[in-house]
Amino acid sequence: MSEKNIIVGIDVGTTKVCTLVGQSRPGGDPEIIGIGNYPSHGLKKGTVVNIDKTINSIYNSLNEAQLMAGVNITRATIGIAGSHIYSFNSSGVVPIKGKEITQEDVERVLEAAKAVVIPLDREILHVIPQEFKVDNTTGIKNPVGMCGMRLEAHVHIVTGSVSLIHNLVRCVEQAGVHAENITLQPIASSQAVLSVEEKDLGIVLVDIGGGTTDIAVWKEGSLIHSQVIPVGGNHFTNDLSIALKVSHAEAERVKVNHGCVLQEKINQSSHITVKGLSEGKSAEVPIQRLVEVLGARAEELFNMIQNIINEYDLSGEITAGVVLTGGGALIRGMSELGEYLINHPVKVGYPVPFGGMTNIMQKPQYSTVLGLLLDASKNPDCGMAFDEVVREVGTDEIATATRFGKSLKSIFGEFFY
Ligand SMILES: Nc1ncnc2c1ncn2[C@@H]1O[C@H](COP(=O)(O)OP(=O)(O)OP(=O)(O)O)[C@@H](O)[C@H]1O
Ligand SMILES: [Mg+2]
Repeated sequence: MSEKNIIVGIDVGTTKVCTLVGQSRPGGDPEIIGIGNYPSHGLKKGTVVNIDKTINSIYNSLNEAQLMAGVNITRATIGIAGSHIYSFNSSGVVPIKGKEITQEDVERVLEAAKAVVIPLDREILHVIPQEFKVDNTTGIKNPVGMCGMRLEAHVHIVTGSVSLIHNLVRCVEQAGVHAENITLQPIASSQAVLSVEEKDLGIVLVDIGGGTTDIAVWKEGSLIHSQVIPVGGNHFTNDLSIALKVSHAEAERVKVNHGCVLQEKINQSSHITVKGLSEGKSAEVPIQRLVEVLGARAEELFNMIQNIINEYDLSGEITAGVVLTGGGALIRGMSELGEYLINHPVKVGYPVPFGGMTNIMQKPQYSTVLGLLLDASKNPDCGMAFDEVVREVGTDEIATATRFGKSLKSIFGEFFY
């Protein structure tokens, strides 16, 4: 039987569904062989609100990636976020009676740590070990082979709403793919953006997406906190749309092309032309006004992040500071304003390149999907054998792909120029 080395990550985001197909390589990072990117229409604040529209976006994104990779996608690692996600730390203890600790003992203690009362409408997505303690020795990452009387595990548990997880999984499965693995989006983004050293020193990853801002806090290589804030880049756009009295599409254009959150970074006297709502009449708007509107929203977001740092007593833990990623991190001045308000070093985090990654993928909005692919490459259950999924790309398929939304030209144009 051939090696199951074809892996897939699907990021079902609020603004786009991105699919990556990769080929995993023993002992190394995977090689990207297919990319699909399609606008998302069925999610609000990271949660599915319209099943049909979500299936349609996933289907089109999959189709593009399948066509490029020349494989049929049957299973994938998918990302999840949304304000239904709730995480907490827990611990468990098992007796080991002086014998050598085995992998089974580790599994038993992790089971004990997750034996906490969880409401019936929630399920556990991740149980992530932080450290083990054997008798009085703390800070152990892998206790297998050690001897002692008592094994203790400290873990981070991520839970989500059963029905909202089900809705996302159902959409992916209706699009023809088995959701083999579900990963919390900021954990995936961290994989793509952060170095081992940063996770050891202590760092906050902030993924500012379209609908939510997802947080993952790392210390000594372990996840110590995760949280989803229901504010994202779309809120910045909505604020602009209301303040400037322009359509959402025009506000998005203005934000992406001229947006800034710091007065110091702009030419105070410059203006831009915007297309108004009434019969498309144009108006002149001072850039200063954009900064006032976007800056107020950014300040609110950074204050929420600061409150999380205070509430969970993280200030002393995050020596490496804060990394902003996700499309929302690209508004000019975000890292400078963040550093001023949060009082820790703040920078924008770009995905670390690996095989087959073009410049176009090396942007903060692709951190999650790249991390999902890295995740899939480490999970032996996620792979598909190439000769089982390979397909001939015929003219019919090209015609079908072209009918669904973007033309092939735009796909290849975007990724391969
Ligand atoms: N160059 C840019 N400047 C400013 N904002 C940008 C830029 N590019 C993208 N954005 C914003 O980033 C947001 C989308 O980010 P991203 O693609 O990471 O979100 P998503 O993954 O679809 O959503 P979510 O993670 O919330 O489900 C949008 O609000 C978009 O306006
Ligand atoms: Mg996202």
